[in-house]
Amino acid sequence: MSSVFGNVHLGYVVIETEKFGDWRRFGREAIGLHVDELRSDAMRFRLDDNECRFLLKRGPVEDVTALGWHVDDHNTFDEIMRRVTGHGVPVAEVAAEEAALRGVERLVRFPGPNGLVQELYTRARTGCGPLQMANHGGFVTGDSGLGHVAITTKKPHQVHGYYDTVFDARLSDYIDETIGGVKFKIRFLRVNERHHSVAIAAVNRLPINPVRTRIQHLNIQVNDLDDMTTSYQRIKELGFDMALGVGQHTNDRELSYYAITPSGFEWEVGWNPLIVDEATWEPTTHQGISIWGHTPEGQTIIDKLAQFKTGIRSLFQAEDSVAALAGSGIADG
Ligand SMILES: [Fe+2]
Repeated sequence: MSSVFGNVHLGYVVIETEKFGDWRRFGREAIGLHVDELRSDAMRFRLDDNECRFLLKRGPVEDVTALGWHVDDHNTFDEIMRRVTGHGVPVAEVAAEEAALRGVERLVRFPGPNGLVQELYTRARTGCGPLQMANHGGFVTGDSGLGHVAITTKKPHQVHGYYDTVFDARLSDYIDETIGGVKFKIRFLRVNERHHSVAIAAVNRLPINPVRTRIQHLNIQVNDLDDMTTSYQRIKELGFDMALGVGQHTNDRELSYYAITPSGFEWEVGWNPLIVDEATWEPTTHQGISIWGHTPEGQTIIDKLAQFKTGIRSLFQAEDSVAALAGSGIADG
């Protein structure tokens, strides 16, 4: 089998948190998702037919701990397994109870960059009843997958190399952006028709990572623009913090806003990003993440200082890039 590109889709996200009350309000009342309470230590969000798109488990880290990847068939599954184990990276079979929590039939897991465990499965459970959610128009999933995640890293070439080795990720484009006086380069990788499933953000030429959490943000996509604007209003009314107001991205043209989750990473709700046409697409570099908008809201000097401290601390922390799967890293073209 030559390439697994197009057969891999972001399927679910696992979050560890102690803040079940805040997350329930955030998921159900603010973002407008369907919430299923499973046990005192586990809760799920749905947004389509899949039983689980977000698994929240009780625990102290306040972060995303794992990404679940849906692969289309057993050939793809076996090919990815062959690559991971072939590079000497251990793959673990996951207990049936853990698979059931994630709403999948069977899964395996292996280490990923930045401490993000990567989980792989072929069949998601569906058909667990009608959705009860404030979002009326539904979400875009299907071949595009659940959405995307953005990872900040000190080792962007290695993270790029990892997703190239494991999933045959393709570079969609770059964005150069200055945030708070610091120059970032962001690499956007796709594994299917979605413009990016993984974005990799790094400070130019400096080995610092200003973000405490393993992902800086995740993204889900609404079908109807109305559901984006009404959820934006609900987030404000309910008193959750907004990181960036509504704006439009330069590269995939998605209209979106960024709210701050109870665990501290950001949650982007977007509408109408372009779909990549493999026949004509050429990677480019865009200046700035936004054509318009995405204005920071309510960030205080205390937040800025906290970010600065996290960046300095990261200088002295090792970051696991799963070197065995990163190849020699991917140089920028
Ligand atoms: Fe995003």
